Amino acid sequence: MSARGTVHLVGAGPGDPDLLTVKAHRLLSSCDALVYDSLVPKALLDLVPPGCERHFVGKRRGHHSVPQPSTNAVLVELAQRCRCIVRLKGGDPFLFGRGGEEAAHLVAHGVPVQVVPGVTAGIAAPAYAGIPVTHRRAGSSVTFVTGHEEIDKRRPGVDWRGLARSSDGLVIYMGLHNLRRIAEELLAGGLAAETPAAVIQQGTVEGQRLLLSSLAELADRVEQEAFSSPSIVVVGQVVAQRVEACCPTPAAVEMPIPF
Ligand SMILES: C[S@@+](CC[C@H](N)C(=O)[O-])C[C@H]1O[C@@H](n2cnc3c(N)ncnc32)[C@H](O)[C@@H]1O
Repeated sequence: MSARGTVHLVGAGPGDPDLLTVKAHRLLSSCDALVYDSLVPKALLDLVPPGCERHFVGKRRGHHSVPQPSTNAVLVELAQRCRCIVRLKGGDPFLFGRGGEEAAHLVAHGVPVQVVPGVTAGIAAPAYAGIPVTHRRAGSSVTFVTGHEEIDKRRPGVDWRGLARSSDGLVIYMGLHNLRRIAEELLAGGLAAETPAAVIQQGTVEGQRLLLSSLAELADRVEQEAFSSPSIVVVGQVVAQRVEACCPTPAAVEMPIPF
């Protein structure tokens, strides 16, 4: 059956609803179906018109996420009935958001798809903590990297030692769980023990927390201060360029599944 509608893969931004793009706002205000997951503020869900179908495909407390094939199937099915479908994802859909997989699946099933980039947590959370991810005097290159260990060992893991040598700054998503091993690898790759590092938990929204530490002490400090997900880790001299005076006030928001 051929598709009736278009699926828009839309970035919701990092949490503060004011960081939504104008294009995303326009699509949310006029869509007839919405598919969303956990890291999306409730204020954005309230933008959809009355009568818009809503489908939650994120992780519920104590449960696993909806499996990717089920989400793909929901999107294909909606495209056969609805005209404008918004697939809303936290941050940017193509940055650790599986947006690429969903886009490829939809195209393979004859569904027109459009991507709407969003403000990623890896830039916004450091910014709300006053940390620039590049700096002319402290960092000319930055790497966005996942700290989430691939279960599938047939695929190569992240070369942390190589990154220690090749990138001035690192912005690590989903890195808390493996932080001790990541820090050890970065030190083994040549980063100095006193390299500045930061963790920003719940960036851009009320309850945002910031931890500043040396790389050598980072894993211990994160444990002692009970930092938890969602958090961004920044490693590099850019952390020392932090300008506290420029930090915006995190937004008071309600999430569909509270942090
Ligand atoms: C599956 S990735 C999705 C990233 C998203 N596509 C983006 O561009 O921001 C989820 C991870 O993003 C990071 N993250 C998302 N929102 C965050 C926030 N408000 N504050 C800190 N980290 C956040 C955390 O590392 C979290 O584990």
